[in-house]
Amino acid sequence: MASETEEIRGLGHRVKRKEDDRFIQGKGTYVDDVKLPGMLHMAILRSPYAHAKLNGIDGSKAQGLPGVVAVVTGELMAQHNLAWMPTLSGDTQAVLATDKVRFQGQEVAAVIAEDLYTAKDALELILVDYEPLEPIVTPQRAIEESAPIIRTDKEGQTSNHIYHWESGDKDATDEAFGQADVVVSLDTHYPRSHPAPVETCGCVADVNPATGQATIYMTSQAPHAIRTVFALVTGLPEEKIRIVSPDIGGGFGNKVPVYPGYVVATAASLLLGRPVKWIEDRTENLISTGFARDFHMHGEMALKKDGMMTGLRVSLLADEGAFHADAQPSKFKVGLFHIVTGSYDLPAAHVAADGAYTNKAPGGVAYRCSFRVTEASYMIERLVQNAAYELGMDPADLRLKNFIKKDQFPYTSATGFVYDSGDYHGAMNVALEKVSYRELRKEQEEARARGELVGIGLASFTEIVGAGPHKDYDILGLKMSDGAELRIHPTGKAILKISVQTQGQGHETTFAQIVAEEIGIQPEDIKVMHGDTDNTPYGLGTYASRSTPVSGAATAMVARRVREKAAKIAAHLLEVSEEDIEFSKGRFSVRGAPDKVVTIQDVAFAAYTNFPDGMEPGLEGVYYYDPPNLTFPFGTYAVVVDVDPETGVWKVRRMVAVDDCGVRINPMIVEGQIHGGLCEGYGTAAMELITFDEDGNCIGANFTDYLLPTAWETPRFETFETVTPSPHHPIGAKGVGESATVGSPAAYVNAVVDALWPLGVRNIDMPVTPAKVWEAIQTAKGGSGG
Ligand code: CDP
Repeated sequence: MASETEEIRGLGHRVKRKEDDRFIQGKGTYVDDVKLPGMLHMAILRSPYAHAKLNGIDGSKAQGLPGVVAVVTGELMAQHNLAWMPTLSGDTQAVLATDKVRFQGQEVAAVIAEDLYTAKDALELILVDYEPLEPIVTPQRAIEESAPIIRTDKEGQTSNHIYHWESGDKDATDEAFGQADVVVSLDTHYPRSHPAPVETCGCVADVNPATGQATIYMTSQAPHAIRTVFALVTGLPEEKIRIVSPDIGGGFGNKVPVYPGYVVATAASLLLGRPVKWIEDRTENLISTGFARDFHMHGEMALKKDGMMTGLRVSLLADEGAFHADAQPSKFKVGLFHIVTGSYDLPAAHVAADGAYTNKAPGGVAYRCSFRVTEASYMIERLVQNAAYELGMDPADLRLKNFIKKDQFPYTSATGFVYDSGDYHGAMNVALEKVSYRELRKEQEEARARGELVGIGLASFTEIVGAGPHKDYDILGLKMSDGAELRIHPTGKAILKISVQTQGQGHETTFAQIVAEEIGIQPEDIKVMHGDTDNTPYGLGTYASRSTPVSGAATAMVARRVREKAAKIAAHLLEVSEEDIEFSKGRFSVRGAPDKVVTIQDVAFAAYTNFPDGMEPGLEGVYYYDPPNLTFPFGTYAVVVDVDPETGVWKVRRMVAVDDCGVRINPMIVEGQIHGGLCEGYGTAAMELITFDEDGNCIGANFTDYLLPTAWETPRFETFETVTPSPHHPIGAKGVGESATVGSPAAYVNAVVDALWPLGVRNIDMPVTPAKVWEAIQTAKGGSGG
């Protein structure tokens, strides 16, 4: 029971993560830990070719291997109308290939066996007759008239072009450019990367032949949405499908889509009447599931001589891979990329986007990103830096001159977003002060005079999280609300069930803190449940930092709803009218007579034992939240680098991060989120790359080629905060999970380009490897006769 002196550890408390008790003891339950009686194992045969006609598959030898239970081909799946499945963008994707293979690593056949080793051995016995076709490995080649058509399966598909999409006012933007004093431009490629969670994707599908009940243990960030889509696609009754997502070892957007392995394992379990487990290995994860980014972008900014920004024009060509599978709200073809005006008061902007099929894996997942805001943030922050240099202005001063001002919020951007709140000058000023920006610039000049390459990079990002309001946001027709269900037990302990799915973000702690704040029960007395569609309320899941903005809001609202009933019971216990009841931190008291008090624990017991006549017993509630708007976290990152002119190696001397995510529920968890994001941003900027050779072979298919930053490379981060609450969120919180991944890549790259600017270097595309830096230095020296 909350005593008078015990502080309720609600909002703002650095409560240690409740879930870590089991994780640090190795007692988590991940999908691969699920072992069911009679369980079979599945392995997938993947295409060695990027583009080839499939003339036939002979699985007879594999079928004959002792221990093999079934060999599944596309033909067999087609007999059950499951050879193709819908993607998150409403396109189709082959589950197992029937006509052609369209990327290296594509799923061609599957073996179900008594154990995994037998299944893998049997893969080698499957004979596939491939007839290689010209692989298309760039979107530029894909849209040439002479390019072979990749999606020959689609009726009426006469090219590899997928979509053209525009946003903003083209005429107003053209006019701004017509009247500009200065126009700067930038061509850049935001490279293909991979979320690479520690735990790969997998499932255990268990279809009970007696009851028809399908229980699928699955690494999913969105179990409820998956269940509904499964029901719609297979025609199975939704109540017969149960998705259980137990502990998840990182998702970062990789675990939002449905992958062919899930479908084949479920179909196999249905046909064989036994549970089937499928767990990807690392290479399978990197080459076939959910890539991210891969935007070829051209940006132009119009400015006046004094540095006033007047217009922004961006066009892009997206490399979508063989099936268009972007994770995005249906209405927006390139997600929320059109927030590309960023933190600036830009009166006119226009975005034109095209997408193309190539012979690469599909994906376009929201890798720690609200549907392409990462690419948008990178483009504007790189462009602003180049504009500053062209104008002879300091990049910080150019930003401060053009930021949306605090009193302009709520602010409507040129592409139609209504930013809820912000104080960009405030965040930037903290960053400048903490990094000693003005002194650094002087130091940089002195260093340059000595021939040393020191760079200072800034990025002031505006994020957009919390998708989203029903009027504009849906995925495959599923609107994006989330629910929370709260029950207070008679002894005053509680259980909260939420629709979102933690993958390491600490929801079991922070969501308990929201309830603690609202109702006064300590977080350790509140069990938080998620990840089981039979036992939690419906909702669209966790990605794009939407948990706190949407489900966090539902949690605050359901706690308030329960508190309203609790106040009625308190009034009954204290024998006063409800209007006379005051609530603070778990205690209901009588206005004007503070000694007359009952606690939430007293009320909880009374809710089941001593409630007013005519009142329904019990103390619980449910709330579904349709957010009125998205939330717009923001911040400024400042990076200082030293570049070795002889080798091109660059080292981060300082990384100062100022984040504003509104009210922080748990500052310790927020800092952890920011550290992780800054690390991923560094990886993208410095080393991570999924690329392809001219035959479409995937390079970056393991961790020796796809370089993730380890503790050795990761810079030291200095984190600071400002707090600008969201005016429409019940507790003023904005999402934060992806802020640092979105905002930081531009800061790192700006720092390296800043170091090399005097040599004439204007851009280096990510990943900014030492080899590229060295080459840029050599080219620059050559160009100037050095
Ligand atoms: O959707 P996802 O959980 O990935 O992102 P999020 O909503 O930004 O939350 C990430 C973690 O930070 C969660 O545990 C949140 O509850 C916590 N958080 C917080 O403590 N305060 C905020 N203002 C935002 C998030």
